Amino acid sequence: MEEQNSRRDKLIILRNIQKSYSSREGPILAIEDVSFEVEEGDFVVIVGPSGCGKSTLLKIIAGLLDYDKGSIKLRGKEISGPVRDIGMIFQEPALLRWKTVINNVLSPIELMGMNKEEYRQKAEELLQLTNLAGFKNKYPSELSGGMQQRVSICRSLVYDPSLILMDEPFGALDAMTREKMNIELLDIWRESRKTILFVTHSIPEAAFLADRVVALSDRPARINEEIAVDLDRPRKLTTKTENEYDEYTERLYQLMRGEFETEVAS
Ligand SMILES: Nc1ncnc2c1ncn2[C@@H]1O[C@H](COP(=O)(O)OP(=O)(O)OP(=O)(O)O)[C@@H](O)[C@H]1O
Ligand SMILES: [Mg+2]
Repeated sequence: MEEQNSRRDKLIILRNIQKSYSSREGPILAIEDVSFEVEEGDFVVIVGPSGCGKSTLLKIIAGLLDYDKGSIKLRGKEISGPVRDIGMIFQEPALLRWKTVINNVLSPIELMGMNKEEYRQKAEELLQLTNLAGFKNKYPSELSGGMQQRVSICRSLVYDPSLILMDEPFGALDAMTREKMNIELLDIWRESRKTILFVTHSIPEAAFLADRVVALSDRPARINEEIAVDLDRPRKLTTKTENEYDEYTERLYQLMRGEFETEVAS
């Protein structure tokens, strides 16, 4: 296993990231010291209590936010602004309501000043992959929340970035739709061979999706522990009935217990 991993390339390396925000009461330290690495093709999940700095961390990696200290390298090159090779999916689908589904998927192509027509086939393939082919000429308001989030996944994949950052993308969905979306996401990940860095509050979701879980402390964020999840793939709904799955979730709950208790008390 070790040997296999060392042969894979490091896609992204974070070293000692520190970030504070300024406020009227003075600086707020959001991230104290975070370092980790993501290898090409990995599915890494970040879990941590509310307000600990998860969204801040993703925005820093996406190049949307400055940081105070540390370094981030994508394929060995320092990141200092938005990078085309990274796509981001936010908690809310944030679709353009006046554009049809297919035109929403193609909107990053327009934004980047590229030729939409060259990407139309790719966009249609992605809609097919996410079971949305029949909805390409509909408007976002005609879709359910889960469908809208699938459109935003297609939109982030259309220009083919290597790394997809997902910030609690299924947080607003009901439990059943969320489970379905988790399975669909794993299918997309497997077929598109992307690297995914996924943020969630949910320990069961983290254990179900991840190759590796990075558990953050309460704010200011530090890494509490990294846990490799060696459950078989492809994962299915029945994965959740396995003892091994329970062992991982139990370990993560134990690890996070202190953090969540602080959260409840505050
Ligand atoms: N623009 C900002 N200005 C000042 N403080 C901010 C700003 N954005 C975030 N913060 C603070 O930084 C801390 C981390 O915020 P962040 O949004 O990264 O947390 P999070 O882990 O994503 O939370 P949640 O799980 O609720 O989404 C919080 O205490 C928040 O209040
Ligand atoms: Mg957040």
